Amino acid sequence: MLQKRAREIGDIIKNSREVHIVTHIDADGITAGCIAYQTLQKLGKECSIEFVKQLDESVLTRLKDENYELVWFTDLGSNISTGYPEINKVITDHHTCSIESNQRFHLNPHLFNLDGGFEISGAGVTYLVSKTIDKKNMDLSQLAVVGACGDLQDRKYNKLSGLNRNILDDGESVGVVKAKIDIRYFGRETRPVYKLLQYASDPVIPGLSGRESACISFLQEHGIKMKDGDNWRCWVDLSKAERRVVISNIARVFLSKGFGYKTVKRIIGEIYLLEQEEEGTEVHDAKEYATLLNSTARYGKYEVGLRVCMGDRGEWFKKARNLLSGHRANLVEGLQFAKEEGIERREYLQFFHAGSGIRDTVVGIVTNMLLNSEEINGDIPLVGFADKGNGEVKASARATEELVQQGLNLSSAMKKAASVVDGIGGGHSIAAGATIPKGKEEEFLAILEQEIKNQLVSI
Ligand code: C5P
Ligand code: C5P
Ligand code: ZN
Repeated sequence: MLQKRAREIGDIIKNSREVHIVTHIDADGITAGCIAYQTLQKLGKECSIEFVKQLDESVLTRLKDENYELVWFTDLGSNISTGYPEINKVITDHHTCSIESNQRFHLNPHLFNLDGGFEISGAGVTYLVSKTIDKKNMDLSQLAVVGACGDLQDRKYNKLSGLNRNILDDGESVGVVKAKIDIRYFGRETRPVYKLLQYASDPVIPGLSGRESACISFLQEHGIKMKDGDNWRCWVDLSKAERRVVISNIARVFLSKGFGYKTVKRIIGEIYLLEQEEEGTEVHDAKEYATLLNSTARYGKYEVGLRVCMGDRGEWFKKARNLLSGHRANLVEGLQFAKEEGIERREYLQFFHAGSGIRDTVVGIVTNMLLNSEEINGDIPLVGFADKGNGEVKASARATEELVQQGLNLSSAMKKAASVVDGIGGGHSIAAGATIPKGKEEEFLAILEQEIKNQLVSI
């Protein structure tokens, strides 16, 4: 069924002369857009691409006026599949959507009883269409793996699951991706080991995460040399035996603090390597690649992200690496800022308001990191607000897998609460976002809290 839909969309694309791609600004959006772009280029189509933060009235009105022969929406668009008939479109998206949006030009896992929160990403569904157009596009599966990792789709099972696995198989079969079992913490190839521990956030290591000197002493205590000459050693520079020592001692830390097997198990899992990339660069490990991309379009540097995905490893790659250090600093500052502002706890949700202290395009990442930090109890969802600077406020909500298991659906709750205050919202059950008019935060929170309560209590 889903395959058939992918083929139908592929046919619509093949029958068009000129296609305009509209995609999202995060890693999944960039990779999705790039898969679409490369697919069209290989077909010899005329194509253009743009990146948007969200599909709102103003974007849609403009697209309508621009009168494209065909618009290909990737990693967004599911909520407009029944609207805007004037825009001739195809949609490859994975956000929660209603069954009414089931149209022949709309590919979304939720229409086929699959969960777009973890079974396939925006880049993944776009890849499925690309593959039906030409099997030679199977090399693009590597970008779909990066997109899925960017959306944290490996979190639920400590590895990619659902349709993501088929995409991974494609990547392995054509030799562009390789799955490996290793430590799941971010920065295996590019961060000094003590930094990898210091920034470990999923799960947070009690007593180590956030504490540089504690991480250094931990490594010294266990006989791990941190430098090789003048160079900091990264995780991948450690010998197998050294890695084992570190992992077993992290596990010991968790167990001694009363954490169970489930938490300890999350330290290791599948990681994904891009076989054609050089080891030690930011594009070899899929998670690091996704973070590199997140440092570009989220800051308005769309072309940088796109060029890197298209394969540039020269000037554009250098630009991306420069943006990455800014992004990392922003996240550290953002976290600090949110903590200082203070998190207010209500019965069914907790929130912070960053005002203009955190960019609206990264407040979601900060909210996620904060929810996973030691300072916060993840027993109820966390909402982060940030001003957009145009009389609007961005809200990002994040929850835990446990809450989702209990019936929480942030996507529908955020959608409902936003619509009551004349905003728009949506996303996934575990992570959702909204844009609302400034000044409506309190009203929005009250409705959101009620929705969350209904979801958790009615199950
Ligand atoms: O826009 P999009 O679907 O691409 O983004 C997915 C969002 O969901 C990401 O911000 C990601 O961090 C979040 N997510 C999460 N926990 C998960 C899965 C996804 O916070 N387990
Ligand atoms: O922006 P943020 O990272 O908080 O978004 C979390 C999830 O909600 C993402 O998948 C994003 O695409 C989605 N979202 C949405 N509609 C909005 C805002 C966010 O579907 N208005
Ligand atoms: Zn996505």
